[in-house]
Amino acid sequence: MKVLITDGLEAEAIAALRKAHEVDVAELDAKQLLEAIPAYHALIVRSRTKVTKEVLERAANLKVVGRAGVGVDNIDVTQATARKVAVVNAPTASSVSVAELALGHMLSLYRSLAVADRSVKEGKWEKKRFEGHELHGKVLGLFGSGRIGAEVAKRAAAFGMRVIAFDPYLPPEVAKGHGIELVGKEELLEDADIVSIHAALTPETRGIIGAGELSLMKHTAVLVNCARGEIVQEVALADALSSGAIAGAAVDVFEKEPPAGSPLLTAPNVVFTPHLGASTHEAQARAGAIIAEQVFAALSGRRPEFVVNPGAYG
Ligand code: MLT
Repeated sequence: MKVLITDGLEAEAIAALRKAHEVDVAELDAKQLLEAIPAYHALIVRSRTKVTKEVLERAANLKVVGRAGVGVDNIDVTQATARKVAVVNAPTASSVSVAELALGHMLSLYRSLAVADRSVKEGKWEKKRFEGHELHGKVLGLFGSGRIGAEVAKRAAAFGMRVIAFDPYLPPEVAKGHGIELVGKEELLEDADIVSIHAALTPETRGIIGAGELSLMKHTAVLVNCARGEIVQEVALADALSSGAIAGAAVDVFEKEPPAGSPLLTAPNVVFTPHLGASTHEAQARAGAIIAEQVFAALSGRRPEFVVNPGAYG
């Protein structure tokens, strides 16, 4: 069968797929994808390619869309289900990588790593200016806590932090097993020294962190977002940083990527990375292997393990 890969994939995963299928790797734009898609039985994407209603309507032969990563917010899953196209992802591939990046950002904010680096490169020696804080003894608030939140909690515990979480879907016994104390949304925002977002982007979470939520945070608190940019209202966050309502932020993800024109780019006390959560060799190798296996299963008529839309099967 014919497989199209539009955002790249680990070489080993491509080689594995090529043993049984005809595989094309091409970074297509939206128009090119619309033209190409009718010929394919499987489409594998990361986050760049948008698998829209129009793409799915033209995908006469498509059986499966593979997302070599976690978030499926770039895929019209409702339309895929209506057309009996399975959507599969690799939900376990990048948890450790994202958790490590979030912890890296926390350390970076607490010890001014990015700014101190620039200062030394400018020939300065500003020891007093960069006196920081320890993570030890602070309260980490996980806004959403699934697989990634659990990995963050483990590492935060090793730093001596108290971990609280707001997640209406996390069973209390699972939270307890991860050393996480479940709290309400307001309590989390009011009590946390660091709020770290680990929720999926859904209609429920889109824009959920706005001016009201940010105003509940301590003036000394910082926000870390390695989840999805659209969860946080960027204008509100930029205002909170400019007014000193919160002390800082680390932003890996933006409402629009790349973030040209984002008000965050000129806000004070914010550090950035370009959506690097899952960008490690280890996570990408896992994502490639998992998604190749999922797509194989779907093309051979088996039900894959990580089906996002079970409705596609009946
Ligand atoms: C994911 O959802 O897998 C990560 O955010 C990485 C990505 O979107 O590329």
